[in-house]
Amino acid sequence: MIKTLEWTNAGVRFIDQRRLPTEEIYVTCGNYREVATAIRDMIVRGAPAIGVAAAMGIALGIRDSQAGSYSELRPELELICDTLARTRPTAVNLFWAIRRMRERFDSLAAEPVEQIKRALIDEAQLMYLADIAACEAMGRNGAVLMPSSGGVLTHCNAGALATCGYGTALGVIRAAVEAGKKIHVFADETRPFLQGSRLTAWELTKDGIPTTVISDNMAGAMMKQGKIRAVVVGADRIAANGDVANKIGTYTVAVLAREHGIPFYVAAPWSTVDLATPNGDHIPIEQRAAREVTHFAGKQIAPDGIAVENPAFDVTPNRYIAAIITERGIAKTPYSEALQKLANSVELSTASV
Ligand code: MRU
Repeated sequence: MIKTLEWTNAGVRFIDQRRLPTEEIYVTCGNYREVATAIRDMIVRGAPAIGVAAAMGIALGIRDSQAGSYSELRPELELICDTLARTRPTAVNLFWAIRRMRERFDSLAAEPVEQIKRALIDEAQLMYLADIAACEAMGRNGAVLMPSSGGVLTHCNAGALATCGYGTALGVIRAAVEAGKKIHVFADETRPFLQGSRLTAWELTKDGIPTTVISDNMAGAMMKQGKIRAVVVGADRIAANGDVANKIGTYTVAVLAREHGIPFYVAAPWSTVDLATPNGDHIPIEQRAAREVTHFAGKQIAPDGIAVENPAFDVTPNRYIAAIITERGIAKTPYSEALQKLANSVELSTASV
């Protein structure tokens, strides 16, 4: 399995996703500030991976502290959490992970510093293992929804490189392939950062899963030609009503799928569900640098000073979504009720690690 990120004694080690697919290079972040930079600069990306990276960043920051007591550690924890929270605004897994680490810290007020340090490292590791288990459960839950054969379109990268395990959307595809389904993946290239052509195509090819890369503007034509039988994507934040924020371009794919009568599925761990956000209009959307659009592989492809929009995500309204696949089960419309029901169910993934 691809080691997207891992805890080591020297720090948090990441595969540098900016260099793929041509170079497989690993970087180790030796302190929490470097972890924050790795998230902001997209050395690591993908909602679940960002969450676990932040948890490990917090564990690293506390481990390296010179503080002599719990109360001396607290202001350091606040600074570390604030630094990590300011990296990327959309994927709720980041804030979920920070909150969970804070809660663990709060529960350790009576413990000596060495114990606190150990407990936070253990907590981050538990989150890492829980994410692996969640990917597998999502795969099992979602595989039945995949066609027995034919094309499945995905957008961005919701695979091993976006998680600690074998992926969310790509986990569903992998589980379907393991179950004997003859799936051919169509990977949208996903302008401007090219997560589809650089990352999804790389990891599926490594697994021997047949994959065709298309540029984003080809999806409609592929659907019209009957080449796509289902769409499955990941998510960065799922609002309480089932609206889904995911990589820019996802909304376009969902509308196209509806037009062609193709089911559009979303696969995400429960840490991506944000019941405190009522609907997609309240999801903060990250705006990224204009240069990602005006330059391609370092070469300028738009006029000097041209106006640019570069929202990293869009929101797909729940009405376009055939099902939301989580490790707790599958939600279908009406989503507010279905998600609430899953919220009340047993946390299978965390209970099993
Ligand atoms: O900007 P990125 O590459 O972090 O965006 C990633 C996505 O939009 C993924 O589809 C999403 O995080 C789900 S990953 C399992």
